[in-house]
Parts: sequence; C-alpha cells; structure tokens
Amino acid sequence: MAKKNILGIVGSPRKGGNTDILVSETLKGAGKQGARQEKIYLSDLQISPCKACAKCIDTGKCVIEDDFHIVLEKIKESDAIVLGSPVYCRTVTAQTKLLIDRIEASQIIKSYTPDGRARFLCRLKKYQKEYAKQGMVICIGDSSSKDILQQTADIMHCFMRDLGIKVVGQILENKLSEIGDVYKNKPLLAQAKAMGKSLERAMGIEPTTFCLASRRSTAELHPH
Ligand SMILES: Cc1cc2nc3c(=O)[nH]c(=O)nc-3n(C[C@H](O)[C@H](O)[C@H](O)COP(=O)(O)O)c2cc1C
Repeated sequence: MAKKNILGIVGSPRKGGNTDILVSETLKGAGKQGARQEKIYLSDLQISPCKACAKCIDTGKCVIEDDFHIVLEKIKESDAIVLGSPVYCRTVTAQTKLLIDRIEASQIIKSYTPDGRARFLCRLKKYQKEYAKQGMVICIGDSSSKDILQQTADIMHCFMRDLGIKVVGQILENKLSEIGDVYKNKPLLAQAKAMGKSLERAMGIEPTTFCLASRRSTAELHPH
C-alpha cells in the first residue's frame, strides 16, 4: 500500500504554543504505522486576504499569487489534515481565516445555461475529489464558554466540508492560556494521541505488527 500523507496546519501564530503541541501530539498518534507527516505554520506563510475580484468565479482558481497555492497543493497531496486554531476574539485566528476565505472563494464557480446566461454558483465537486479525505479539528481557548469554542470550530468544519473532507475527530478545550498550559492537562494530551490513532484507522492504515492474540484464529478467540 502506498504511504499515506498527513498534513498538520497550525493556525496559531505562537510556535510551541498549545495548538502547536496538540497538533504535534495528534500527528505523533497518527504516525505509528509510518505515515508521512508534515506540519506547517500559517504564520510562516504570506497569504493575502480575498479581495473579492471574482476572477475565481469563472475558473475556480484564485488569481492572487502568494503562498495560498502552496497550502492548497499540500492539502491536495495529503490523505488527511489536522487543522488547529485557538480562539481569537471569538473566532479563528486571522492566519486561519485568511486561508479559509481564500479556499472558500476559489471553491465556487458560475454555472451557465446553454444560451450563455449565468445560472447559479455551485461548489466544485470535481475539485473536492482532489483533496485530503479525512480531517481533524483542534480548537482551543481560554474562556469557560463552550459556545464560543463550538462556534469557532464550526468555521473550521465548514472549511473541511467545502473541500469534501470528512471530519473524523475534534478537540475542543478551554482554560488554556500560557504556552505549555496543555502539558498540565495529561488527559487532553492523551486524547490528542488517541485521536491521531483513530485517524490512522479512518485512513485505512493497517498495523504492521500484531499482538499474539490477533494472530489467533477467530474460533480460538470466540470458542462456543
Ligand atoms: C488576541 C487574542 C485574542 C483572544 N481571544 C480569545 C477569545 O475570544 N476567547 C477565548 O476563549 N480565548 C481567547 N484568547 C486566548 C487563546 O485562545 C488561548 O490563549 C490559547 O491557548 C492560545 O493558543 P496558542 O497557545 O496555541 O497560541 C485570545 C488570545 C489572544 C492572543
């Protein structure tokens, strides 16, 4: 079986911060069977805001030449992505939003009637097939309101849905503030690792080593 690719996208500008750590832990959990992994920081990239030029409406392609296309290519080359963003002012970070807006804009296209009249805008289903198939969402904040976390995560879910990516796991966690706060929350770290493992399963990566029990026949394991 060809090696699978997993892409971690860190939407926090704080390298080594809580989002970064949780994305890394998830990747660690997902890497046991040798899937290729890469982690990118949106804050390292130059991604301009959508300027509503509407050029993408006819082609489905964004005409702004910047690092957005690098991320898009990486998402295309991936089998799964793990997207993490902290809550900033009740929504995703600016870095994450820039990516989402640009993806959104370049995923719709005008459809025409046979006589050339514009009919409606539709999602580019054929493009969706090119992107990663599975995704995970990590959204963290520092408040005690689950609602704000959920509304922020919803934006990330929307991004996944529009790319045709099935979200197979998410972490929503509050009360994280300083860099490394996440290390004080061992169950959360374990949850991230477990989520990575479940991503492997969702991607259909089979274990390469088996415990003795799994080598036994079904009859041995379930005697009547
Ligand atoms: C500019 C800014 C705005 C923030 N706004 C919110 C907010 O609206 N709600 C919230 O729960 N946390 C908010 N936070 C807290 C961060 O979500 C929290 O500190 C998180 O752990 C940062 O993640 P990081 O360690 O990956 O950078 C904000 C932090 C910053 C710097």
